Amino acid sequence: MIDQYDISLAIASDAAAISELSRDAIEQGLPWSWTARRVARSIRDRSTNVVVARQARSLIGFAIMKYEEEEAHLLLLAVQAAQRRKGVGSALLAWLEATVGVAGIGIVRLETRARNDEARSFYRHHGFEEVGLHEGYYQGVEDAMRMTKDLRRWA
Ligand SMILES: CC(C)(COP(=O)(O)OP(=O)(O)OC[C@H]1O[C@@H](n2cnc3c(N)ncnc32)[C@H](O)[C@@H]1OP(=O)(O)O)[C@@H](O)C(=O)NCCC(=O)NCCS
Repeated sequence: MIDQYDISLAIASDAAAISELSRDAIEQGLPWSWTARRVARSIRDRSTNVVVARQARSLIGFAIMKYEEEEAHLLLLAVQAAQRRKGVGSALLAWLEATVGVAGIGIVRLETRARNDEARSFYRHHGFEEVGLHEGYYQGVEDAMRMTKDLRRWA
């Protein structure tokens, strides 16, 4: 069970907490690239949605999706460690997929660290297919698994 939480678009003052969760949950062992400044730019960017899951006043998860011409690119998704396996990641993804559908985009793509078995399981659970390894994707030091989902097949 998880206490009530809300999912909404991020606001400028969320940038620092999002950036810290990215550093701790996603970018560990890599140079920290999603600084608060970069996250704030994404929050302002009209072709990007930054969404947050908030419980009381604390941020328990977030996701960043960039909309391109024919595809949407899921850039980041993380849930605070203490709140995992309670459906928060799925709720963030569902929120974004609904928006992608409204925008008339059929494909979502993403990269995740190849050795991140948890994330790969999570995305496979949600209908993503593993389409290939991208060697050195993470600053030349680590490989990524590329994954895609055709939303039209899941409509
Ligand atoms: C990946 C992540 C976002 C999943 O969020 P979550 O809120 O824990 O996911 P959910 O509770 O919605 O999980 C839905 C399903 O995905 C699968 N899943 C989720 N976490 C899993 C894990 N650690 N191992 C195996 N399967 C997993 C399961 O099928 C799960 O359903 P179940 O709990 O009924 O078995 C979270 O583990 C996380 O923040 N990880 C660190 C950051 C990261 O790796 N982000 C992705 C790359 S950018």
